Amino acid sequence: MRPFLRSSALRSAAKAPRGLPAYYYATARPFSVKAAAASSSSRRPLDPSKLHITKTKHPKTLSKPEDLVFGKEFTDHMLTIEWTEKDGWLDPQIVPYQNLSLDPATCVFHYAFECFEGMKAYKDKNGQIRLFRPDKNMARMNKSSARIALPTFEPTAMIELVAKFAQLEKNLIPDQRGYSLYLRPTMIGTQKTLGVGAPGSALLYVIASPVGPYYPTGFKAVSLEATDYAVRAWPGGVGDKKLGANYAPCIVPQLEAAGRGFQQNLWLFGEEQYVTEVGTMNMFAAIKDKATGQKELVTAPLDGTILEGVTRDSVLALARERLVPEGWKISERKYTIKELADASKEGRLIEAFGAGTAAIVSPIRKISWKGEMIDCGLKETEESGEIALRMKNWIEGIQYGEEEHEWSYVTKA
Ligand SMILES: Cc1ncc(COP(=O)(O)O)c(C=O)c1O
Repeated sequence: MRPFLRSSALRSAAKAPRGLPAYYYATARPFSVKAAAASSSSRRPLDPSKLHITKTKHPKTLSKPEDLVFGKEFTDHMLTIEWTEKDGWLDPQIVPYQNLSLDPATCVFHYAFECFEGMKAYKDKNGQIRLFRPDKNMARMNKSSARIALPTFEPTAMIELVAKFAQLEKNLIPDQRGYSLYLRPTMIGTQKTLGVGAPGSALLYVIASPVGPYYPTGFKAVSLEATDYAVRAWPGGVGDKKLGANYAPCIVPQLEAAGRGFQQNLWLFGEEQYVTEVGTMNMFAAIKDKATGQKELVTAPLDGTILEGVTRDSVLALARERLVPEGWKISERKYTIKELADASKEGRLIEAFGAGTAAIVSPIRKISWKGEMIDCGLKETEESGEIALRMKNWIEGIQYGEEEHEWSYVTKA
């Protein structure tokens, strides 16, 4: 069993004076190993039965619900699994939350060998801890990691480990509706080298942050600025993968939109100005057909420029099951910002919303595009359209186990 911290480090950590976290004094082992020629037959798969748990001696208490700020507070522990080209996946560890110690030449810092996931654990009314469609997150993470020459893993093994981790942190999962534990699986290349090549070692870790509802006082419809001077993703690129390198370049256009009073930006693509995504969410629009009057819920297709959102997939599946019988048409197709502008002018744009794990849905009030303001169909007194609201209730009902559904994964105590 390879401890995450050397046992001497753990001993010194245990002796840490009061006032500073114990891990502050611990000398963590650097995540840099020498890549050696590997025989793939000897590489080990990810094995949850080998999990070793070292519990913190200083457990936290959960903050008051109103004090929870997304991604600012973390739980007591982290799940870590090292991988080397020679040995494959080493024994998984749950250890006290702590700093990583990495050589400045580690490849993640230079060539962005990093990918991540965003998912949540929910506490239901019986105190059970549930994950929502974790298979989707794990499949997406494998696609992301494979694209940047990082290792992949057996999804069911990783789900088992994430479930055990969430169970261990269950005292730090708020139980009110809308509250949850945000889980951040992350993988980084840890090889110490400035040579550009496939990392010979990697670290897969999961940290967790207790979070409250995205809109604590109910929905607040957002205003968007359509960004046409920068693109988020392009065909053949990596915008359909959850790579850290995709996110930093999005901040400046977002800041520019914010500087002009808009909460988010809307990403367009190509000369046709196709609508792709809204900030870090997938985009949906409900439009009435000009000729037939049929209502259509439309979102962009997975053509390589769109992140394959778990919420997007859930909205589509629920819409096909529950809205089609009401006469709706559900489409994954390309649509342009002009199509939205025309529908709006003709009173055919019923509503629009973003969809993602953080908020589930985020209703849109208006979009600024080329000096024009596209009204997305909400009355002044409304903060959400009917479809966004129904989707939120359906999805939340499944996440909290109020509706029994195969998408909800109940973790074992
Ligand atoms: C670019 C982008 N699009 C869409 C999404 C929504 O994906 P999901 O529903 O899986 O959270 C996210 C959030 O992870 C994202 O970062």
